Amino acid sequence: MTILITGGAGFIGSHVVRLFVEKYPNYHIYNLDALTYAGNLENLNDIVNKPNYTFIKGDITDENFVNSLFNTYKFDGVIHLAAESHVDRSIKEPLAFVKTNVIGTMILLNAFKKCWSHNFENKRFYHVSTDEVYGSLGETGLFTEKTAYDPNSPYAASKASSDHFVRAYGETYKLPYVITNCSNNYGQNQFPEKLIPLFINNIINNKPLPVYGDGNYTRDWLYVKDHAIAIDVVFHKGLNGEMYNIGGINEWKNIDLVKLLCEQMDIKLKRPKNTSERLITFVKDRPGHDLRYAIDASKIRKDLGWEPSVTFQQGLEKTIQWYLTNEEWLDNVTSGQYQSYFKNQYN
Ligand code: NAD
Ligand code: TYD
Repeated sequence: MTILITGGAGFIGSHVVRLFVEKYPNYHIYNLDALTYAGNLENLNDIVNKPNYTFIKGDITDENFVNSLFNTYKFDGVIHLAAESHVDRSIKEPLAFVKTNVIGTMILLNAFKKCWSHNFENKRFYHVSTDEVYGSLGETGLFTEKTAYDPNSPYAASKASSDHFVRAYGETYKLPYVITNCSNNYGQNQFPEKLIPLFINNIINNKPLPVYGDGNYTRDWLYVKDHAIAIDVVFHKGLNGEMYNIGGINEWKNIDLVKLLCEQMDIKLKRPKNTSERLITFVKDRPGHDLRYAIDASKIRKDLGWEPSVTFQQGLEKTIQWYLTNEEWLDNVTSGQYQSYFKNQYN
C-alpha cells in the first residue's frame, strides 16, 4: 500500500506518520506538508531515514502539484490531517482556514477521485476532523455521531464544511471515505499556542497564564498517541461512509486543568507549592467561546474495540516530562515569529 498522510509534520500528524512507518514496513508512507508555522520536521528526526518513508514539501491548495503527486504515486490511501488548526488564529484570519481546510480538502478529494476514476476497490480516503463541528454543549449531554453540526468558530465552520464535502463525494461519486471527529488532543510536539503546551512554556519562563473568561469552559482531553492508535484502527477496520467520534472520556474545566498542571509543574521544577498557580491571570474571553465539548465514544469502542490506553494523570506526566527534556525544541519553535504572535494575541 502507498499511503499519503497530509500534515504529517504537525502535532497529531507526526505521531500518525511514526506509528504507520514503524508498524507497517510493507507500506510506503508519503508525508505531504507545507511546513507552515505549525509544521516541524524535527518532530520526525527519529524516522527520517526509514526506507518506507518519504517527506514531500508542498501545499494541498496547489492543485497542479497535488494532481501530479497522485499521478506519480497512485496513493491507495489518504489520511488527511493538514489544516489550519488554532481557533484563535481563525478568529483573526478566517480566510486562511477556508483556503487550507475547505479548498485544500476539495483539491485532495478531486485528485483522489481522478486518480482512481471510480475504480475505488481497496482504496480509502480518511478525513481527520474535530468535535468542534458539533458546536457547544450545555452542562450535560455528549456529542454522538448523530449530533447535528452547529459550528461556532471560523475554524469549526471550515472543518464542518470540509466534512460535508467528504460526505458529499461519498454520496455522489461513491468515493470510499471515513471521517473521525476527535476531542482536544494533548501530548508531546504540540505547538505552544494551544492551552497545555502554552501554559507549560509560560510556567517554565515564569510568564502569566492567560485563562480566558472565568475559566469555567470544559474540554474532553485525549493523549495524542491514543488518537494516532484510533486513526490506525479506523483506517484498517472502519466501514466506508461512516463517522466515528473519538474522545478521552476525560472532561476537565479549564481552570481545574490549569491548577493541576501548575501543581505538577511545581513538583517537576522543584519550585515551592503554589508558585505556578500565582501566574494564573484571567483575561478577556475568546469571542464565541464554546462552553463545553464532550464525546460519546461508544461507537468506536463497541464496533472497533478502541479505547484510550493512558489515564489523564499518566498522559500529562509524560507530556510535561517531554517538554522539560526537550527545551531546545521549545526554544526553536518559540523564537522569531512566535514572539509577535504572542504579543498580538495576549497584549
Ligand atoms: P497542527 O496545526 O499541529 O498541524 C497541521 C499541519 O498541517 C502542519 O504540519 C502544517 O505545516 C500542515 N499544513 C497546514 N496547511 C497546509 C497546507 N496548505 N498544505 C500542506 N500542509 C499544511 O494541527 P494538529 O493539531 O496536528 O491537527 C491535525 C488535524 O487534526 C487537523 O485537521 C485538525 O483539525 C484535527 N484535529 C486536531 C485536534 C487537536 O486537538 N489538535 C483535535 C481533533 C482534530
Ligand atoms: P485550545 O487549546 O485553543 O483548544 P480549543 O479551542 O480547540 O478547545 O483551548 C482549550 C481551552 O482553553 C479553550 O476553552 C480555550 C482555553 N484557553 C485559555 O483559556 N487560554 C489560552 O491562552 C488558550 C490558548 C486557550
